[in-house]
Amino acid sequence: MPLDDRAEIRRVDKSGMLQFSIEASKHYREATRLAGKIDVHFAEPDNIVIAGMGGSGIGGELLKDYARNQAHVPIEVSKDYTLPAYAGKRSLVVIVSYSGDTEESLSAFLDAAKRQCTMFCITSGGALLEHAEKLNVPFLRVPAGMPPRAASPYMLVPQLVLMEKLGLVTGVSEGLDEALRILEKVSGENAPEKPTVENQAKSLAQGLNGTIPIIYGFGIYRAVAQRWKQQFNENAKIPAKWETFPELDHNEIVGWENAETLAECLSTVLIREKDEPLEVRSRIEITKSLMPKASKQFEAYAQGKGTLAKMLSAILVGDFTSVYLAVLRNTDPTPVKTINLLKQKLGETGTRERIIGELEALAGKQKAKTRKT
Ligand code: F6R
Repeated sequence: MPLDDRAEIRRVDKSGMLQFSIEASKHYREATRLAGKIDVHFAEPDNIVIAGMGGSGIGGELLKDYARNQAHVPIEVSKDYTLPAYAGKRSLVVIVSYSGDTEESLSAFLDAAKRQCTMFCITSGGALLEHAEKLNVPFLRVPAGMPPRAASPYMLVPQLVLMEKLGLVTGVSEGLDEALRILEKVSGENAPEKPTVENQAKSLAQGLNGTIPIIYGFGIYRAVAQRWKQQFNENAKIPAKWETFPELDHNEIVGWENAETLAECLSTVLIREKDEPLEVRSRIEITKSLMPKASKQFEAYAQGKGTLAKMLSAILVGDFTSVYLAVLRNTDPTPVKTINLLKQKLGETGTRERIIGELEALAGKQKAKTRKT
């Protein structure tokens, strides 16, 4: 069994993606320490927009799920060049880009600056850091040198801490304390030295191999399902999809009616927890019973008591699974050739240059204004 051969895992996972899952709790601890440095005193905004793409954008999605039953102002995750129409002086816009060089994120930064929104940046460097400094926008600089999706602790935790400082959410520090303990446990349970029979991520990877996984989340697992999908795409290099309860019961389930042989190429992973509200549990069980028998069904249970431990433990199992699936497919999980190629080709279109030019002009204006006063 290739997954029970440590040397085989190392041979395929050349660039060491698995290590980020093994050391997840260490990264969350370090991200918590760094986030403790955030020293901003913003007035309470009317709304919050988190702008970020891919592995950086998922932090905003997770924050949105965490805050959904707590925050009394709307939080929107914006994954585009421009911000929603309502964003203005009373909005807080958090721009999150690990590299600091993503075109859409730089454009959102420019848009927020033009609209005079309150701004905060989370990045490891790039043009975003450079222009945050030039425009006096507060930022948190996170350690560089990781694949952005592996840096998700550094993208998520500062957002949680910032929202807690603003009084919009509570329980972040206690939640992270528990999460760190649970993450260590989950890492141990899914570690490469644990044989497949005792290792949930390895068995899931084996079961999913050869299929297109569709991840079903609910409630606080909406963005968790999205993260699983992204990790299957970027680590295992396979198509994957995600959906969330209860909405999927109003369209997705009909899609299985005539799926016939198509269903054989698909699999579902249901993200679950032992404390599911009764209405959710009944819904999930009924939905499962209506799915065609040909499709492979799997379940992954979150661990812990608090919201953060539950969300992060479920994510970690997905992260491990995606790397083991990459190993089974003899694919180095780290490189994202197509994303890099796309960014390179987009770079040749001149859009990024135009955005940087506008940012330079804004910085120039600001400098001149400061000199005058
Ligand atoms: C690569 C990855 C991508 C990037 C995305 C945006 O590991 O996860 O999804 O996150 O292309 O780039 P950044 O995060 O640098 O803004």
